[in-house]
Amino acid sequence: MNSAAHTPITFVGGGNMGAALVAGLLKAGWPASLITVVESSSARREQLNILYPGITTSEKIVACTAGVIAVKPPAAVETCAALAQAGATRVLSIAAGIGLGALQSAAGTKTAVVRAMPNTPALVGEGAAGISGSNQCNESDIAWAESILGAVGTVVRVEEKLLDAVTAISGSGPAYIFLVAEALMSSAVTAGLPADVADALVRQLLVGSARLLQLSTESPAQLRANVTSPNGVTAAAIQAFEQAGIRDAIEATVQAAVSRSREMGS
Ligand SMILES: NC(=O)c1ccc[n+]([C@@H]2O[C@H](COP(=O)([O-])OP(=O)(O)OC[C@H]3O[C@@H](n4cnc5c(N)ncnc54)[C@H](OP(=O)(O)O)[C@@H]3O)[C@@H](O)[C@H]2O)c1
Repeated sequence: MNSAAHTPITFVGGGNMGAALVAGLLKAGWPASLITVVESSSARREQLNILYPGITTSEKIVACTAGVIAVKPPAAVETCAALAQAGATRVLSIAAGIGLGALQSAAGTKTAVVRAMPNTPALVGEGAAGISGSNQCNESDIAWAESILGAVGTVVRVEEKLLDAVTAISGSGPAYIFLVAEALMSSAVTAGLPADVADALVRQLLVGSARLLQLSTESPAQLRANVTSPNGVTAAAIQAFEQAGIRDAIEATVQAAVSRSREMGS
């Protein structure tokens, strides 16, 4: 992100995701003086002022030029209308399941709306988000939204209809990985390791494997082959994993998430 992209921005909702985005922007060099967070909870406003010195916090939306909707989904459409009313010409919504049609019609014709599906690893600057712009967006509107989410991870552009699939992979995905971590920890204890040792090994296993996957140019299948000698320990483990139906289980998991996301969106 270059300094030309640093423009005033108003977040509505300073909870988990709103605060993660603010932290990411500050880390990426966005001046605190350009950031306003509208937050209904006074205790949370006090916390935000301590966590992010120099930002402005406010109970209500005041005049602004660009906004991010980071409140819970039921409040997203009215928040979008309020931001447009307050002068925002660009709005980015991260509210799950609230479509561009409803948001753009609440915003009117003078405000371009971009919708995104981020995920919680954004809290540690490792998010994976999909974004989609309404028909009213031009290239610079989408690039603006990308620069905000890009401060806390990877961003991909997709058609809006694919945001359900993005939700099923990266939105809900951290929960799948945490479930794998839970199962590995309990299997490690069954195999005789003390719980604290199992906890430390499994956490680092996931971090190390993810880092290898991120930095390597090899495919996941090749990385797996690299650690699987014929007739070895890993080969026996992978055979058991495949026989237990791991691929079918993951397919069913993602399909269930896509269906539920579509259902909630309608
Ligand atoms: N967390 C995730 O993994 C995730 C992933 C993708 C998308 N999202 C989306 O991100 C959005 C925010 O989620 P979150 O997890 O950050 O929720 P959250 O932690 O509950 O944060 C929302 C914050 O907004 C405040 N608020 C509610 N109504 C407001 C209003 N009208 N004006 C100003 N502030 C208001 C809430 O205060 P009170 O608590 O006092 O109501 C709360 O502090 C949701 O739409 C969600 O769908 C979240």
